[in-house]
Amino acid sequence: MIDTIPPFGLGTFRVAAGKTAQSVKSALQLGYRHIDTAQYYDNEAEVGQGLRDSGIPREDVWITTKVWWNRLSRDALIASLEESHRKLGVGAIDLVLVHWPSPDSVVPIAETLAAFQEARKLGLLRHYGVSNFTAPLLEEALQAPGGSEIVTNQFEVSPFLANRALVEATQKLGVKVTAYMPLAEGRAHKDETLVDIAKKHGATPAQVTFAWLLSRGIVVLSASTNAEHQQVNWDAQKLNLDAGDIARIDALDEGRRHANPPFAPKW
Ligand SMILES: NC(=O)c1ccc[n+]([C@@H]2O[C@H](COP(=O)([O-])OP(=O)(O)OC[C@H]3O[C@@H](n4cnc5c(N)ncnc54)[C@H](OP(=O)(O)O)[C@@H]3O)[C@@H](O)[C@H]2O)c1
Repeated sequence: MIDTIPPFGLGTFRVAAGKTAQSVKSALQLGYRHIDTAQYYDNEAEVGQGLRDSGIPREDVWITTKVWWNRLSRDALIASLEESHRKLGVGAIDLVLVHWPSPDSVVPIAETLAAFQEARKLGLLRHYGVSNFTAPLLEEALQAPGGSEIVTNQFEVSPFLANRALVEATQKLGVKVTAYMPLAEGRAHKDETLVDIAKKHGATPAQVTFAWLLSRGIVVLSASTNAEHQQVNWDAQKLNLDAGDIARIDALDEGRRHANPPFAPKW
C-alpha cells in the first residue's frame, strides 16, 4: 500500500456520466497513481471500475473520496463511508476528506474525527483529512483528538488564486496542501503570461501551471477525460521553472475564487 499522498492526481469532478471509468483506466495506464473522487460526484462506482479495468494492482493506487458536509455527524458519517466503501469496491479507502467544514461548526470537528477513527477500525479507510478548511478551522481540527493525523487540506489554488496565506499556514502546521481547480475553469490555457512561459520551455500553459504548484510543494489534482491531455498534464512533473518564471506566475494572483458555495466557510 502507498503510505503518502502521491504528488500528482487525477480529478473526477464534473466528468460526464459514463466517462469516469474510462478516464480512470487510461490515467492509471499512463502512470497516474492517485485518483480523487467524492461521494458528491456520484461516480465512485465508476472510479472503482476504472481501477479494476486498468489492470494496475489495487495496492499501487491511492484513492481519495470525500464526505459531504451534511453527513459529518457520527452516524451519518459511518453510513456515508459504508456507501463509499461499497461503491468503490477497493477495500479500505486510502484517504477520506471532510469535503466542506460543517457550517457554523454545527457538527463539532471532534465528533467527525472520532468517527473517522472508528471507521478506520472498521476497515473502511486508512487515512483521513479535510478540504476547504480555513487556517483557524484547520488549527481547531489539529488540536482535537485524532487531529494530528490529518494528512491534507485540499482547497482551490490556481495562478489567479495563489491562496498564499492558507498555503503557508497549512504547510507550517505540517499538513500537505492539495490544490483543486488549478486551471481556473480553462482560464490558464489563454493567459498571456502562462502562454509566454510555456513557449519558452516548449511546454503548455497547463504544464506551466502544474509545475508552478509542484514547485510550491503542493499536491496537484487535474481532471481530464482525454488521454492526450492526461499525458501532457502528467509530463508537467518533468518541467523545471526558473525563479523568474515563478515570480511572473506569482504576480498573476488576484484572489479570484471559483468555488464559493453558500455553505463555504468565511475565507
Ligand atoms: N474539494 C473540493 O471542494 C473540490 C472542488 C473542485 C474540484 N475538486 C477536485 O479537484 C479536481 C481538479 O479540479 P478541476 O476538475 O477543476 O480540474 P482542472 O484540471 O483545473 O480542469 C479540468 C478541465 O480542464 C480540461 N483540461 C485538463 N487538462 C487539459 C489540457 N492539458 N488541455 C486542455 N484542457 C485540459 C478538462 O477537459 P478535458 O477532459 O477535455 O481534458 C476539464 O474540462 C476535480 O476534478 C476534483 O477531483 C475538489
